[in-house]
Amino acid sequence: MPDQHFTELAADRIALRRFAPADLTIFVTYRSDPDVARYQGWDAPYPLADGEKMIARLLDTHPDTAGEWFQYAMVLRSTGELIGDCAAGTDQQDPRQAEIGFTVRPEYQGRGYATEGTRTLLRYLFGARGKHRVAARCDPRNTASARVLERLGMRCEGHLREAVWEKGEWADELCYAILDREWADRAGPAPAGCPD
Ligand SMILES: CC(C)(COP(=O)(O)OP(=O)(O)OC[C@H]1O[C@@H](n2cnc3c(N)ncnc32)[C@H](O)[C@@H]1OP(=O)(O)O)[C@@H](O)C(=O)NCCC(=O)NCCS
Repeated sequence: MPDQHFTELAADRIALRRFAPADLTIFVTYRSDPDVARYQGWDAPYPLADGEKMIARLLDTHPDTAGEWFQYAMVLRSTGELIGDCAAGTDQQDPRQAEIGFTVRPEYQGRGYATEGTRTLLRYLFGARGKHRVAARCDPRNTASARVLERLGMRCEGHLREAVWEKGEWADELCYAILDREWADRAGPAPAGCPD
């Protein structure tokens, strides 16, 4: 596979790289923030053991494996500091389709990092990984997340009413997607180091 030795995708201010064991403390700390966990699939506090297990699995996993999610560590290129993560899950039935997600540490939010990281991930998925369609889901109350997806040109294809039971309540879900040809129509040149 072309990316068996995947290391990183570089953009202007950030890079997406593999998680390493040294990322554990910061990763578990920001996942344990109740505001970060609010619309996500885990509860705060996020257990250290779960972080250890996840990072261990990602050390040698191919980032584009059918039926699996791959979490990319988002770091500042200037300092190497871990500021969040982006994720992509490859569809089990048809690996030409993927779903994405993202998280930024509270102290780094509001500076365009989620937008830059997710744009980098979309370039990789539609470029080197040859995806046809990339989707994302978010709770309509998570306006920061919806704005990131819309800023990147993802189309809201539906508002599902009380479609998921999450954290003790039925929650609505917005479904977003973008196709390869739509991305090509709006994407600029790939950032340095982005292998597409
Ligand atoms: C959703 C989340 C990832 C957004 O992260 P973020 O880094 O703050 O997002 P961005 O900075 O890219 O965008 C937020 C704001 O920064 C502004 N911004 C500042 N500098 C910017 C730049 N250089 N480029 C783009 N936007 C910039 C944007 O205008 C935007 O403001 P707006 O939404 O009012 O238009 C973050 O709130 C988070 O981690 N939430 C918890 C986890 C979560 O819910 N994840 C999504 C699950 S679906």
